[in-house]
Amino acid sequence: MLVLGIETTCDETAAAVIERQPDGSGRILSNIVHSQIEDHAPYGGVVPEIAARAHIDLLDGIIRGAMTEAGIGFAQLSAVAAAAGPGLIGGVIVGLTTAKAIAMVHNTPLIAVNHLEAHALTPRLTCPLAFPYCLFLASGGHTQIVAVLGVGQYVRLGTTVDDAMGEAFDKVAKMLGLPYPGGPQVERAAAGGDPKRFAFPRPMLGRPDAHFSLSGLKTAVRNEASRIAPLEPQDISDLCAGFQAAVLEATADRLSVGLRLFQERFGAPSALVAAGGVASNQAIRGALQAVAAKAQTTLILPPPALCTDNGAMIAWAGAERFALGITDTMEAAPRARWLLDADAVAPAGYGKTRAAY
Ligand code: KG4
Ligand code: ZN
Repeated sequence: MLVLGIETTCDETAAAVIERQPDGSGRILSNIVHSQIEDHAPYGGVVPEIAARAHIDLLDGIIRGAMTEAGIGFAQLSAVAAAAGPGLIGGVIVGLTTAKAIAMVHNTPLIAVNHLEAHALTPRLTCPLAFPYCLFLASGGHTQIVAVLGVGQYVRLGTTVDDAMGEAFDKVAKMLGLPYPGGPQVERAAAGGDPKRFAFPRPMLGRPDAHFSLSGLKTAVRNEASRIAPLEPQDISDLCAGFQAAVLEATADRLSVGLRLFQERFGAPSALVAAGGVASNQAIRGALQAVAAKAQTTLILPPPALCTDNGAMIAWAGAERFALGITDTMEAAPRARWLLDADAVAPAGYGKTRAAY
């Protein structure tokens, strides 16, 4: 099975071709990701209109490149998949409409993929991984602990009541004057800092549910930063190290609870799996290792390049659905909001009207 995948939900314009064997194993034939970081950097964050226009300009060439690199023509595709949400609606429309055009012209089945489902299923692309498993999804828009029971079967065990983890990294970077996107910058600065210099809070620590809260921690960093301003490079490193240490401890605690809730409801997971941009952070990866070891669970971490947004994850999720006979019609709608677990209830204290809480 050969599937083209298209990703345009945020600030990456990406296309990839993957191959799926009948035994469920996968192979990436091409995976081209163009980051629009330079277009958005002057604004300190993603500007939706700029993103949508850049997707229009770039997408055709990137798809052509992915097809050429894979060495196949459109007629050989088994299906074409696009991320149909959740995300910035302008970009989603560009990707989904392009996929529909390809599907129509070449009479190829279309699959409208949930971007979050793609993050959730990506680990099965790179290694054999049976359901059910416990997913830690931490990106710019989401921080969730999810029981992945099968393709299309997701139960959310925990989520953030305010900021997403990647969002918190980005905001801390911005307040310390580090360039966008902030996650990798904070990680780099933290490496040379003293994590004990500032006593930052560990939000939600010890609570019986598996939810996260990150905005109070972010505010604590802001307060310390203005208290000791003007900031020397060492101050910035120490603030980043303190922030990251608090995130690590909160993550370890919340995930331990999440794994316990998983066990109670679904039995032992086949693995703890991480996905999303924050999962490319080496310190977070180390903390997850410790959590998995303590819970006597295998840890599976996709390579960093497959943790951040890319086309291969969309193609793979499309292939997983197509293998089960699931396809979509030309009526498939782009969606700014699209919960992975439609039955999930907002946690108590949830404070934002957000796309997918
Ligand atoms: O999954 P992703 O590429 O896009 C979505 O949000 O869907 O995740 C991007 C987020 C950004 O907030 C970025 O700052 C964060 O992931 N991120 C990191 C690191 N690399 C990316 N956060 C912490 N440490 C990193 N090394
Ligand atoms: Zn993502």
